[in-house]
Amino acid sequence: MNMINEILRLKKEKNVVILAHYYQTADIQDIADFVDDSLGLSEKASNTKADIILFAGVKFMAETAKILNPSKKVLLPDMNASCSLADSCQPADFKKFIDKHPGCVVVSYINCSAEVKTLSDIICTSGNAVDIVNSIPESKQIIFAPDKNLGNYINNITGRNMILWEGSCKVHDTLNLQAIVDLKMAHPDAKLIAHPECRQIILEMADFIGSTAKLIQFTQTDSSKKFIVATETGVLHQMKKSSPGKEFMVVPADKNCACNDCEFMKMITVEKIYNCLLTEQPEILLDEAVMEKAREPIMKMLKLSAERKK
Ligand code: 13P
Ligand code: SF4
Repeated sequence: MNMINEILRLKKEKNVVILAHYYQTADIQDIADFVDDSLGLSEKASNTKADIILFAGVKFMAETAKILNPSKKVLLPDMNASCSLADSCQPADFKKFIDKHPGCVVVSYINCSAEVKTLSDIICTSGNAVDIVNSIPESKQIIFAPDKNLGNYINNITGRNMILWEGSCKVHDTLNLQAIVDLKMAHPDAKLIAHPECRQIILEMADFIGSTAKLIQFTQTDSSKKFIVATETGVLHQMKKSSPGKEFMVVPADKNCACNDCEFMKMITVEKIYNCLLTEQPEILLDEAVMEKAREPIMKMLKLSAERKK
């Protein structure tokens, strides 16, 4: 049996849309209907006509798709595909944190659980975080969770002084600074591009900072021929595909390896996607009341983002 052909057949037969994040492996990106960053994928999930959504990504992304499509079946091939950011912010602890700072507007990065979304006023992704924060009146104090690095980056750009939850992405927060210095020395003609989940010291060195989709776009339009890429390894697939003549070097977390993989994203495999399509399991199931409450801050974000695009 050719597993890829079977996936394509089952997908058509069951009217399934496969949404894949840029951090998925190349083989998965190539069988997906849409490959995008968190913002793009939540937009795709909000517009789909498919009966079933199969999410090749992590749990908070599949939960977001379910919240936006409560009557549809949303499948995640491995329920253990979590996220260190989402895990760092447990709803009960976050509620106590909010209660300690009454009167604040709560902005949460989409990398959080459905329950944390119910405690939030508005959601953002790395692609629209600055616009979302700028949409809030300056007189308002803001709580930002769960990524302290992204929060700190937004504070620097907007001049705000948001109160930050102390979470971080275990992939971006551990990128090896010395490896960047070494790569820059060895390739002085290369541009350093970084995801805003990276530490401030890395962002200060970067030539360009942006969400996954914006980083890929930058490598397509910028005249440089070499890029040092400070984010997860998966993005290289689309970068190489769209700019075959350019060179891309990933920044490792560890000096002894040449990649920077998110263990959660990489839990999804072609075989798990096949089994998931066949059995329609595991399925994302969420409490109705949680979905209803979590939908509001997500819809606010999608509306604001759509207005910005006009
Ligand atoms: P974006 O998809 O917003 O670039 O975020 C990256 C990420 O870490 C997803 O988990
Ligand atoms: Fe979470 Fe980081 Fe993995 Fe993204 S790369 S899913 S933020 S652990």
